[in-house]
Amino acid sequence: MGKDVIIACDFSTAGQTFEFLDRFKTEKPFVKIGMELYYAEGPAIIRAIRERGHKIFLDLKLCDIPNTVKKAMAVLRDLDVDMTNVHAFGTIDMMRAAIEGLTRPDGSRPMLIAVTQLTSTSEERMRDELLIERPLPEVVAKYALNAKNAGLDGVVCSPLESPVVHESLGSDFVTVTPGVRFADSQKGDQARVTTPQRARELGSDYIVVGRPITAAEDPVAAYQRCVREFVG
Ligand code: C5P
Repeated sequence: MGKDVIIACDFSTAGQTFEFLDRFKTEKPFVKIGMELYYAEGPAIIRAIRERGHKIFLDLKLCDIPNTVKKAMAVLRDLDVDMTNVHAFGTIDMMRAAIEGLTRPDGSRPMLIAVTQLTSTSEERMRDELLIERPLPEVVAKYALNAKNAGLDGVVCSPLESPVVHESLGSDFVTVTPGVRFADSQKGDQARVTTPQRARELGSDYIVVGRPITAAEDPVAAYQRCVREFVG
């Protein structure tokens, strides 16, 4: 599995995104496009970024009835991204339908990963609002197992959870991990953070890094530092 740094392009317009990407003269970073930018700019933003030669993780976190997810994934398939995702909460049937929709006629498809529990969901909220009584790590492990059984390629999780995911589901089952900060920088609103180097030691396959790169004085240097620490 090729380890890589994915930059979270959490911008609200195409203009801001291109202004940011224009700074990269020699490398073509793997980028994550989320709901904000996709809803604002539509599929055109994906095509434009692809044309510039970047790999794309389209982070839309689909969750609906299996038939709807299958059809939506068939639309996303034609955007030719490299990675996309669903909520594992949608059940194994939904995740299988997502794979069906995403698979091209030649049998290939973008990497498909699952969100287990959002990091914004606490164990207390899970119990009191969602009536899920089991401990959060157990729920995350079960949802990851469901994702693997459905045929998905991996999960989004904290770097701190990468070891247990790999131990129980194998080193081929990919962990894509946000919550990464440089040792000498601000945590922002992320509660549990690790450095790129620590994420590498913990076995993360991809780290998703937003503000430590996008808000840096020199984003290209920050990206290069991330790659150096994570990929080596
Ligand atoms: O700016 P920062 O490095 O915190 O950005 C992290 C990115 O990863 C954001 O796009 C955020 O939405 C996303 N993310 C996260 N935690 C999750 C899932 C996604 O921070 N559990």
